[in-house]
Amino acid sequence: MAGIRVLFSAEEIAARVDALAAEIARTLPDDLVVVGLLKGAAVFVADLVRALDRARARPEIEFIRLSSYGTAKESSRQVQLLGNVPAGLAGRRVLLIDDIVDTGRSIAYAAALLRHRGIGDLWTCALLDKPQRREVEVAIDFIGFSIDDVFVAGYGTDYAEKYRHLPYIGVLE
Ligand code: IMP
Ligand code: MG
Repeated sequence: MAGIRVLFSAEEIAARVDALAAEIARTLPDDLVVVGLLKGAAVFVADLVRALDRARARPEIEFIRLSSYGTAKESSRQVQLLGNVPAGLAGRRVLLIDDIVDTGRSIAYAAALLRHRGIGDLWTCALLDKPQRREVEVAIDFIGFSIDDVFVAGYGTDYAEKYRHLPYIGVLE
């Protein structure tokens, strides 16, 4: 596709997702609920839970939809809940998953929502981390890849709702 340079190929992503799943299965309890942040984390969650199965974990799956990033490459910094927080999470042990942690606001907001619902232990996971961009302190327990301050798309992540379908992650140029 024009204007996009491959940063992580489908094969590199698959290998990293498998390794992450093995680490998660080894470290976290078995009665885990994976909570993905829509829409960006949908593709990652779909692959991660099947990798978790191969690592003999049996997670439940839920999603929370947060307000979109906007249509620009710059976050609006106004995170909002769209729809509902899944019911029945009180006391549950949750692995919260996003595609990318950038300023940290989205995942921090979702973690606060879940804690407010009285969940048990909480861990966080992101396929991509942009540590240079952090504005809100938030612990990410499992990270796929750390990247520089570049705008990426593909494998669930978008630029103005485009590119989510790409099997790889690319840098827009
Ligand atoms: P944060 O709230 O600033 O941490 O932003 C996180 C959200 O912004 C993620 O859920 C992503 O969906 C989106 N995002 C951050 N950086 C990028 C990017 O480079 N490409 C596409 N989406 C991004
Ligand atoms: Mg997102």
